[in-house]
Amino acid sequence: MSSNVRTIGVSTGGGDAPGLNAVIRGLVRTSINDYGWRVIGITNGFDGLIWPEHCRELTDDSVRGILPRGGTILGTTNRGNPFAYVVEEAGQKVTKDFSALCMDNLKRLKMDALVVIGGDGTLSIAHQFHKLGMKVVGVPKTIDNDLSATEVTFGFDTALHVVTDAIDRLHTTAESHHRVMVIEVMGRDAGWIALHAGLAGGAHVILIPEIPFTIENICEKIRDREMLKKRSFSLVVVAEGVKLPEKDALGKPFPDAKPGQIGNTIAFAIREFTGKETRVTVLGHIQRGGSPSPFDRVLATRFGVQAADLIARGEFGKMVCLRCGNIVGVPLEEAIGVYKTVDPKSDLVRAARAVGISFGDQP
Ligand code: F6P
Repeated sequence: MSSNVRTIGVSTGGGDAPGLNAVIRGLVRTSINDYGWRVIGITNGFDGLIWPEHCRELTDDSVRGILPRGGTILGTTNRGNPFAYVVEEAGQKVTKDFSALCMDNLKRLKMDALVVIGGDGTLSIAHQFHKLGMKVVGVPKTIDNDLSATEVTFGFDTALHVVTDAIDRLHTTAESHHRVMVIEVMGRDAGWIALHAGLAGGAHVILIPEIPFTIENICEKIRDREMLKKRSFSLVVVAEGVKLPEKDALGKPFPDAKPGQIGNTIAFAIREFTGKETRVTVLGHIQRGGSPSPFDRVLATRFGVQAADLIARGEFGKMVCLRCGNIVGVPLEEAIGVYKTVDPKSDLVRAARAVGISFGDQP
């Protein structure tokens, strides 16, 4: 056991994910009860190390009641890399390196180690700090579930509940109105949320970044349902990161569409090509907010406890992750920058196809 540790810090960085508070609670309780450490909560990601005025001690009392709460009690930001921080000076944007200041502040606040809870970007910064000598342990989070080092990230399961519920709701209104419903979901460059929730919600078409599609194929599926199956409605789940084909079904080039707009662009093309009434729902940040599911609460708690255990064993520069049902530590350098995407040949995709779901890649 590393007897040198007396005080640790914890910060949450990047976009939030349901379960962040459960990690903090697990970490704080283990640190205080099992190891007798003090825990300092650093506010708003690494910003709190640059401007530590709002950092505060986290006690058993301060984590009471936070298990079911969404968001993070510490606040977060997905801007602001201390190694290249953009600030405005005399009306000009300038990039500054605040990393030395962060190292100093960590010392000033007497923190012997730091637990960083974040996605790939945040954990990459944590790794840079580790190389400067900071004793860091990482905890992965993202609703996108696209980190390869861990079998699953907390937040993903909660997002699936939200999206599946939305698909169920859209199902009944689509059927009543004989409409096509397009549902755009998050996931960045990976199709995990779209694929799992589309499968769970009984979608008819799922579009993911990993499988190229055409508008013709999507429309053919919609028409087939009408003509052959006498089903006058269809549900199309679109991952926000899909790559649009070069041209739409009428041969016109697609306009550029960013996440948040891509569902609309595809819906417009379907409407033009099939003539069917088509509506769009962009679920957006609803997928990230609110109370974590029981699965995410348990996983996040286990991550928080294991982060404390790694510190106690002096295993710094590591990230906790789930492997074969166990929580283990892996070196940060192995964990960061390696994304996990959907394998189009996986049994998951095969299962979706087998139950009649189209990926828009085949007529
Ligand atoms: O990575 C999580 C995520 O929610 C993505 O699915 C999404 O593209 C992105 O963050 C949205 O980020 P922001 O909070 O900056 O809108």
